[in-house]
Amino acid sequence: MYKIYNRRYTGSKTKLIDWIFEIINKNCNGKSFVDIFSGTGVVSYYASKNGYEDITLNDLLYSSVVIYNAFFGSEEIDILKLEKIIVELEDLSKLAKPNYFSKNFGGKYFEEENARRIGYIRQSIQLQKNINNREKDVLIASLVYSMDKLANTVGHYDAFFKNMKNTRQFEYKMIDIENFDSKFNIFREDANKLIKNISGDILYIDPPYNSRQYNRFYHVIENLVEWKKPKLFGTALKPKDNSNSSEYCKVKAPEVFANLIENSNFKYIVVSYNNTYNSKSKSSKNKITLEQIEETLNKKGSTKIYTKNHPHFNAGNTDFDNHMELLFVTKVGEKFEDN
Ligand SMILES: C[S@@+](CC[C@H](N)C(=O)[O-])C[C@H]1O[C@@H](n2cnc3c(N)ncnc32)[C@H](O)[C@@H]1O
Repeated sequence: MYKIYNRRYTGSKTKLIDWIFEIINKNCNGKSFVDIFSGTGVVSYYASKNGYEDITLNDLLYSSVVIYNAFFGSEEIDILKLEKIIVELEDLSKLAKPNYFSKNFGGKYFEEENARRIGYIRQSIQLQKNINNREKDVLIASLVYSMDKLANTVGHYDAFFKNMKNTRQFEYKMIDIENFDSKFNIFREDANKLIKNISGDILYIDPPYNSRQYNRFYHVIENLVEWKKPKLFGTALKPKDNSNSSEYCKVKAPEVFANLIENSNFKYIVVSYNNTYNSKSKSSKNKITLEQIEETLNKKGSTKIYTKNHPHFNAGNTDFDNHMELLFVTKVGEKFEDN
């Protein structure tokens, strides 16, 4: 069974989670926690484990929101029924014929037979009767987790290895549905729009750090989850539609960040970022400088900055070896007592 943190995702905070919550618990008080760039959702998962009662998840990606609804949705689900469907589909998919997914991605992002099985299962989920929305999302999320480690890539879908390096056999397994004490709210909105309609105790901000757009990095997963079967282009087989891209990966990033902070209505603001501004690779360079973050936050209150060395993601060519993770904690409108 897959846990929410069993995913490869650029910028995922799984390995930093203890450090992040140690700092949040030391500096902040409150019951509500908004994770406005949730990515995998792992920070919200641990916010619940840390006792936050009201938790909000939000991300621009379709796949993220399907995964949040699967793990945290409030609709009742029949786990035994879903387990039965998964065993059936796992078995039937062994005889899968070529399909949209295998014709596009087989022999490239996935080994041919694995690609057929993934495409077959996704189509079968679409045709399932007698499942509610969340049950459908559990089946799709389970497929995303099951295929994650089979991809013939470094972890994202900007490119695949020329030779098929990953020939591990596909296995369809279910995600682990846990019971939580917290109430979850789930959105797929631009963070800058959502911020105007929410308020609470802790606002956790973990935006993209550079020009690499998540909708392009994870286009194969977005395609599988949305299942609109668009025509694909180029060696990387991406769809034409790029409407779901983020302003945080563009030159305007400092401005949109300042706008987000200005419009926020929370007691504490916690920002994760890293220091790849001096990276040799242009696409790894930070879009917002650390000074810009600090300056923007200081307009709201007093800020403490924590740092941690962290081995970073890189796509094979080491372009920065002095990687550091930062956590900015701002007490809005007031000074920290120990300052
Ligand atoms: C650094 S990742 C967050 C990682 C997350 N904290 C985790 O642990 O998995 C940034 C996320 O922000 C999302 N994103 C980018 N621009 C956004 C926007 N304008 N509004 C909402 N989400 C956005 C991306 O899709 C991506 O999932």
